Amino acid sequence: MADRIFVAAAWPYANSSLHLGHIAGCYLPADIFARYHRMRGNQVLMVSGSDQHGTPITVRAEEEGVPPQTIVERYHGQSLETWRRLGITFDLYTTTGTENHRQTVHEIFLRLYEQGLIYKKTAALPYSTKAQRFLPDRYVEGTCPFCGYSAARGDQCDQCGKQLDPKDLINIKSKLHGDTPEFRETEHFFLKLSAFEQELAAWIGEKAHWRPNVRNFVAQYLKDGLIDRAITRDLDWGVTIPLPGYESKRIYVWFEAVIGYLSASKEWAQRQGQPEAWREFWQGDVRSYYFLGKDNIPFHAIIWPAILRGYDRTLAQPYDIPANEYLNLEGLKFSKSRNWAVYVHDFLDRFEADPLRYTLSINMPETADTDFSWKEFLRRNNDELVATYGNLVNRVLSFTYRTFEGKVPEHTPEDRLGESSRGLLRQAEATLEETARCLEACRFKEGIKAAMNLAREANRYLEEQQPWKTVKTDRQAAADALWTGSCVVAALKTALYPYMPVSSQKVHEYLGQAGRVEEQGWALARPVAGRALRQPAPLFAKLDEAAVTAEMTGAQA
Ligand code: MF3
Ligand code: ZN
Repeated sequence: MADRIFVAAAWPYANSSLHLGHIAGCYLPADIFARYHRMRGNQVLMVSGSDQHGTPITVRAEEEGVPPQTIVERYHGQSLETWRRLGITFDLYTTTGTENHRQTVHEIFLRLYEQGLIYKKTAALPYSTKAQRFLPDRYVEGTCPFCGYSAARGDQCDQCGKQLDPKDLINIKSKLHGDTPEFRETEHFFLKLSAFEQELAAWIGEKAHWRPNVRNFVAQYLKDGLIDRAITRDLDWGVTIPLPGYESKRIYVWFEAVIGYLSASKEWAQRQGQPEAWREFWQGDVRSYYFLGKDNIPFHAIIWPAILRGYDRTLAQPYDIPANEYLNLEGLKFSKSRNWAVYVHDFLDRFEADPLRYTLSINMPETADTDFSWKEFLRRNNDELVATYGNLVNRVLSFTYRTFEGKVPEHTPEDRLGESSRGLLRQAEATLEETARCLEACRFKEGIKAAMNLAREANRYLEEQQPWKTVKTDRQAAADALWTGSCVVAALKTALYPYMPVSSQKVHEYLGQAGRVEEQGWALARPVAGRALRQPAPLFAKLDEAAVTAEMTGAQA
């Protein structure tokens, strides 16, 4: 029976363009995982959307002197375009600005409020007499009391990842006018996280399959003790509070954004014309995977599980949270403010999607930070995609096409092939299984490496068999070697499909097959003798060193 797999990817703020760090951190692994499971015949729902609320958006809007909605529409549209060009296959990519989302958030807020899991409390918060307003989150900056980072924000430190209260900040300053705010009493709603402490600790204790970096992060977080958090802010941009008397406040972006996973699933179901279909991915036998960067771990491993527990215990808790570490750029952290970034849309104006997906997959920051450099991109493209995988596909299929009248050659039955051919075929089968095991366990890097090793082995095999020579003396030997090679090519188009869907589809067609490669399922479909092939073209383009070096100077400018 098909498994039901819910694939969630963190909601990026709609206040800037997506860069390679976002892709390597969560959207690419989510997509690889979803494609794999669909190919396996499992039922997948993959959702996310633009996070359009909170001070990240309003600060940007004020900088540009435009309404927040203008910012949101610009970047939401750009993200949709990026997903299309990069082949990130969301079933729904929505926003947190929908009426459906507002309703879902209100329902959850009220359910928790009725149970006392959300309660009112007066808190002292930074207020600027100069600006005559409260200063939530990104409107203040100060030194982090934990790590000493000097640009920590009112809600979180970007350096050590700790959640903060504005009163924790040392030397707090307004980001609006640089003045030192005073602390004024105001009423807010708090989420009673403390009520979930033991339950969450026990739950996380069972998650032996989580990545060690995620488990350690959460364990440390719990050790510090769960404190109740304010989940409303003095702002006019965001989801309203469903109780009278709080018109000048909004729900904290983080409390409502995580609810997007549920509201997006409902929106998807409505769009299918089956409004209850979301339940298939939230109730009963379903596994939910949340893909995100490490700075988002507390919200997905603590806060969202607590909200879900308080709201409805029949809803599926995260099964796994395979959070990634960071991708750096030429040795330095990606930074929008310092303009140290490679934006996906720029990248795709110059290069193809598959080489990017390849480079980010084989060097994915799964358990430690990794680095993207243009030199590495050049090397991976030219030495690995072109010279190893592309070369294998090209030499096997072009030579077969030319020599055997454009057909899969008549070959010796598999059980009577020579030992090295049979060994290679066994290895192809084993690689498909190995890559599948890695993908199931969210070990993406290892999965693609296994596939590339098979390509290397097959190249070695061809060097040894020399079909381009034997064809003159022993046509059957050449046919057998080429057929064996084409079986490996067929295995690779499957194993690499989740990573590089465009080239896998091409290989599928070169092998003379109709339809979509993913419809074939996760199995080695041996090319059938006599089947017409399609004339192949090189799978990847060799990149010119100068063109890539030009990008390097571009990034530094
Ligand atoms: N917008 C947040 C960020 O970019 C992520 C939100 S993930 C969500 O860090 F699940 F809460 F939506
Ligand atoms: Zn810090």
